[in-house]
Amino acid sequence: MPRAHVLLSESIHESADPAFERANIHVHRSTAGLADQELIRALQAIPGDEPVLLGIRSKTQVRASVFDAVPRLVGIGAFCIGTDQVDLEHARVSGVAVFNAPFSNTRSVAELVIAEIVILSRQIFARSWAAHEGAWLKDAKGAHEVRGKRLGIIGYGHIGSQLSVLAEALGLRVSYYDVINKLPLGNASAVDNLDTLLAESDFVTLHVPDTEQTRGMIGAAELAKFKRGAYLINASRGSVVDLDALAAALDEGQIGGAAIDVYPKEPKAAGDRFESPLQGKRSVILTPHIGGSTQEAQANIGVEVSEALVGYMTTGRTIGCLTLPALDGAELRGGCRLVNIHKDVPGVLSRVNHVVADVGVNITGQHLVTGGGNGLLLMDLDMPREDPRATALREGIAKLDQSLRTRLLG
Ligand code: NAI
Repeated sequence: MPRAHVLLSESIHESADPAFERANIHVHRSTAGLADQELIRALQAIPGDEPVLLGIRSKTQVRASVFDAVPRLVGIGAFCIGTDQVDLEHARVSGVAVFNAPFSNTRSVAELVIAEIVILSRQIFARSWAAHEGAWLKDAKGAHEVRGKRLGIIGYGHIGSQLSVLAEALGLRVSYYDVINKLPLGNASAVDNLDTLLAESDFVTLHVPDTEQTRGMIGAAELAKFKRGAYLINASRGSVVDLDALAAALDEGQIGGAAIDVYPKEPKAAGDRFESPLQGKRSVILTPHIGGSTQEAQANIGVEVSEALVGYMTTGRTIGCLTLPALDGAELRGGCRLVNIHKDVPGVLSRVNHVVADVGVNITGQHLVTGGGNGLLLMDLDMPREDPRATALREGIAKLDQSLRTRLLG
């Protein structure tokens, strides 16, 4: 008998399968993205009464109706970065764990930025454009090696720090600015204010999230503080750079060139028209938000998300979960574990303990964490999962008004 089932839609990378197989989670696959009723039917058609997981990519919309119609659904893996396609609020109030893969494409973004640093420094884009048009721009004017130049990284998180290591291997000197005190890797050095970083860098690259503080963080005033002729790279979020101000700074020669991957307004679908004030400028590389789009990143996503779902199914671990409070469930050693998600209101634990006392089972460990209106309870019990008392206990706790999702593992 499988521990659980997972329905993987939208041809999720096969790198997801081994983790599920090792955990005895039966994999069902569908190549297409499933629409609302189709998705509900597909989930309801899964045999048995074990818990069900759903794996999606960007096309499958998971609306409130899905959570209501499929009480066996305990977890969703978004095998991608974005989670707009899932009604996260309804997942939360339904007690369904949702995981994504925020860091699987770190390396892909860092590699793109390395390539762009060299391409900008050698004016490859303009020379290639000219060559396509039949012109022969063979001279060394304005072309430089990157060795010995200074790279300024804004945001020294997963991508910024990975980039730092790769850049030093090319002989760049690396400075970074972050709002959090981050340990420098290699020979990189932290600067304590943005203005210093802008003034001393030959290349400035942004790797910050979209927050109130980062929105519009590079505008006309900041561009004026760059070293004259320095380069700007943005593969973070479109809201961070004022592109009109950048276009003006490029025209005026204050900025020597730029590589931009993300925009304040991006086309929704492949056929939609893309517009930007930077179009037509030969000193600017424009890419369609592909920083993280590689085959390797897709394979990493398959592993990262399946392992998060397996952790949730085998121990109740919710680290990285977008909808439930974080708890690092330890390995289960003997007996079984009850996983109960409930509304975080007073008196729930005493009602749970009442059910346990009625059934007459010994508790060997108990962990509770609350947050976002939910409580997550892991309760280790001194009996095998197949024990009839375990079923009575699960059913008794699942029936409580405050319980949202309840299962036994072991
Ligand atoms: P992360 O969360 O690991 O690192 C972000 C860093 O920025 C953190 O160290 C944080 O302390 C710092 N930070 C936050 N506010 C700041 C501020 N006001 N000034 C300076 N530093 C600040 O994120 P990660 O994974 O490195 O991603 C960075 C960005 O790249 C994100 O916006 C993400 O959405 C984007 N991204 C873009 C991709 C693409 O396809 N172009 C693919 C993957 C990520």
